[in-house]
Amino acid sequence: MQHQKVLILDFGGQYNQLIARRVRDLKVYCDLLPCDMTAEEIEKYGPIGIIFTGGPNSVYEAHAPRIERAVLELGIPVLGICYGAQLIAHTLGGSVTRADTSEYGKRTLFIEKDTPMSEGIPQESICWMSHTDFVASLPAGFMTLAKTDSCPVAMYGSQAKRIYGIQFHPEVVHSEYGNKLLENFLYRICGASGDWTMAGFVNEQVEKIRASVGEGKVLCAMSGGVDSAVAATLVHRAVGDRLTCVFVDNGLHRKGEPEQVMKVFKEGLGMNLVKAEAEDLFLGALKGVCDPERKRKIIGELFIRVFEREAKKLGRVDHLVQGTIYPDVIESGKGKSATIKSHHNVGGLPAVMEFQSVVEPLRDLFKDEVRKVGTELGLPDGVVWRQPCPGPALAIRIMGEVTREKLAIVREADAIFREEIEKAGLAREIWQYFAVLTDSKTVGVQGDFRTYENVIALRAVTSVDAMTADWARIPYGVLERVSARITGEVKHANRVVYDITSKPPATIEWE
Ligand code: XMP
Repeated sequence: MQHQKVLILDFGGQYNQLIARRVRDLKVYCDLLPCDMTAEEIEKYGPIGIIFTGGPNSVYEAHAPRIERAVLELGIPVLGICYGAQLIAHTLGGSVTRADTSEYGKRTLFIEKDTPMSEGIPQESICWMSHTDFVASLPAGFMTLAKTDSCPVAMYGSQAKRIYGIQFHPEVVHSEYGNKLLENFLYRICGASGDWTMAGFVNEQVEKIRASVGEGKVLCAMSGGVDSAVAATLVHRAVGDRLTCVFVDNGLHRKGEPEQVMKVFKEGLGMNLVKAEAEDLFLGALKGVCDPERKRKIIGELFIRVFEREAKKLGRVDHLVQGTIYPDVIESGKGKSATIKSHHNVGGLPAVMEFQSVVEPLRDLFKDEVRKVGTELGLPDGVVWRQPCPGPALAIRIMGEVTREKLAIVREADAIFREEIEKAGLAREIWQYFAVLTDSKTVGVQGDFRTYENVIALRAVTSVDAMTADWARIPYGVLERVSARITGEVKHANRVVYDITSKPPATIEWE
């Protein structure tokens, strides 16, 4: 089925993908493409509307990106945001001025004129500004639709031309009615019908994967994490048995994880999933190693060796699937195609193996969208809502040397903590929650005996991107139950402490 499309022209702003995800959330398909498209190319693409993003330039700079005037004469509705708004005004004969100081942050937006763009938006609301230049005078036929105390033209437009400009950022959450503005543009100005859904995304990706993979063989390293699980499931839907997934069982996973991966993907979905048993290999290599960075390095390198060994057994493989998501793309350098996720569990793969292409069906999506795709694909909540777990897993949650005995202790304590958090209904609010086996022993009294056993630390944080984090305010009652259960049920643990440090200064993981 042909669906309606919105074209987002990329002028280099930092929120561009966010604009794209807002449009998708409003059930309209969109593509984010370079801003140098010609009017002819745009017409051929056939959008119901065009959005010009913000960008770092000033319209008066010699090398600032521009747009052909003809683009604004196609009769297709256009919405310019920030630089995009300035560019429209400049291109059509208005003027743009540089303010003495830049304006950042929340401002009160006053709606000046009621138009279809401002439907459902109160006379006063909060908007989010981030700019230095602003539109000083409008081209003929345009009028000011909203202002702030410091910005005389916060929104302008022409109903006849169906062209609008917004100086603030409707796509960020701090703009109270930003989403409503985007909705008004899409539905009231462009005539969107809301024909884009997660099911649509899945179908489209399946087609794309089929086209790019052809008759080739595909390989995927399945970590059990949401991203690789959803990517593999999509590819499996597209190419079936020609996909082989490898799950490396390094003996460092959390309780029940290897079993869950095999159950969901091999038994449930019937995937070609190979489990590489490598516990002895990993624990052997980690023997006597206490330094966290060395642990990471050893685990990362061994992972590659085991993965490579399994891949060799398959003969020629043409494509590699990666669960790269949009935040990974930003981290590893924007815009580069086929960037390999320098993720600790897959880092370095391309150096040792050759593939015709890397298939990354989730590259444009944010984490919560990946979860929606997972649900759409029928993956269970346990997989879709799994909290992030570092590649080296329990190895960096044991302070000092990793042994089988210590793994058993931290694994049990961690399972109890997870179970109680889930039972308390807190799992989706807390970004990560896990147990750490400290390298301290303390005196305790259990039954009539004096004990000298391990201290378990509980770590639970709230975060949006793991760059910063705050310790989660877990109710005392829940902490009490976790503590009682760990000291009662886990052998060799006689004390439980709760980590109340934010990041920074601490990190989320203890090692
Ligand atoms: P930190 O501890 O640096 O963690 O605050 C930030 C996020 O990164 C995860 N993390 C890792 N992920 N391999 C990974 O795949 C690693 O070696 C690693 N170390 C930390 C951590 O769980 C948190 O989500």
